[in-house]
Amino acid sequence: MDYVYGPGRNHLFVPGPVNIPEQVLRAMNRNNEDYRSPAVPALTKTLLEDVKKIFKTSSGTPFLFPTTGTGAWESALTNTLSPGDRIVSFLIGQFSLLWIDQQQRLNFKVDVIESEWGEGAKLDVLAAKLAADTDHTIKAVCIVHNETATGVTNDLSLVRRILDEYRHPALFLVDGVSSICALDFRMDDWGVDVALTGSQKALSLPTGIGIVCASPRALEASKTAKSLRVFFDWKDYLKFYNLGTYWPYTPSIQLLYGLRAALDLVFEEGLENVIARHKRLGQATRLAVEAWGLKNCTQKEEWHSDTVTAVVVPPYIDSAEIVRRAWKRYNLSLGLGLNKVAGKVFRIGHLGNLNELQLLGCLAGVEMILKDVGYPVKLGSGVAAASSYLQNNIPLIPSRI
Ligand SMILES: Cc1ncc(COP(=O)(O)O)c(C=O)c1O
Repeated sequence: MDYVYGPGRNHLFVPGPVNIPEQVLRAMNRNNEDYRSPAVPALTKTLLEDVKKIFKTSSGTPFLFPTTGTGAWESALTNTLSPGDRIVSFLIGQFSLLWIDQQQRLNFKVDVIESEWGEGAKLDVLAAKLAADTDHTIKAVCIVHNETATGVTNDLSLVRRILDEYRHPALFLVDGVSSICALDFRMDDWGVDVALTGSQKALSLPTGIGIVCASPRALEASKTAKSLRVFFDWKDYLKFYNLGTYWPYTPSIQLLYGLRAALDLVFEEGLENVIARHKRLGQATRLAVEAWGLKNCTQKEEWHSDTVTAVVVPPYIDSAEIVRRAWKRYNLSLGLGLNKVAGKVFRIGHLGNLNELQLLGCLAGVEMILKDVGYPVKLGSGVAAASSYLQNNIPLIPSRI
């Protein structure tokens, strides 16, 4: 048996993959189709147009790769850079660490700017590096918008301001895997050159689509970038865009219809309402953590993430035990602490197609687990803090007004 049954729905609160809404599941429940028929290019055209809206770009060119966030990273790097290129990258947690590892293995010279886990990117160090780089040897600045391992969100508008201040031409490459379509993200306003995300995060789809969006400058860079690339080459897609058939290889029909349904749900709610809902979910979770007397891994308010909260446990508790118990006893899935913060934090993912009452169920579960593992929590304290905030802040459901 490959599925271990638990009654009711699994409370899936890992920060991706997230719950898939019924509408999306139904939309994907269909047969394969000939992707060379006129129907699939027509569908793809709408997807490419609409995906741009969640990146907030009108000038960007989107690509839908059959891949994950990791593949999207590789596509962003190899299409815009050449081996030996100097890049600046921020190490603030497990996902930025993995991206840096990929950058190094692709033979870029990486200036790593490291922060304590729980802190945001050190932008003052970036400013100093750009100021000193009068010959423009830095070809790209790479940053993870929302570090999913620690619940830290970086201020991208500030990165753009620093690049502009020094009139530095470095490309601005952004991992928006756990931010795009949940947090405020503005590709054009912030002059992002390549932005990327994965389908299993805020879009609430199965894993399997890596969405990459390239600015005109990034497309231009791709014409001379010498990094080896085949499967992730933008050129192949552009050729098929021009032919009006869109796909250089066989797309997953089911995922395309799923993406259509997922985007429809986002637009029905309204992207700004989606972002506001994530703000409420983030704030409610933080209030619960505070009421439990526990600390947020994120060191400062300015970095608080509205898609994931990493909760620090007291030293006498193993956070992995919390995650184990959550699943074994309460049919609740929480995120493990990764790498440097393994055993020290557990993570509550609050992103995607999720409402406030679902979150309260998760918070109630966490309280019981904390008590199970010997932490002196008052049952109901976090739920009360979260629900009194939510009761004052939840608007009417936009489509039911
Ligand atoms: C911020 C961030 N970037 C990249 C990745 C890697 O994505 P994937 O696991 O889809 O390859 C993740 C995965 O959780 C992530 O959270």
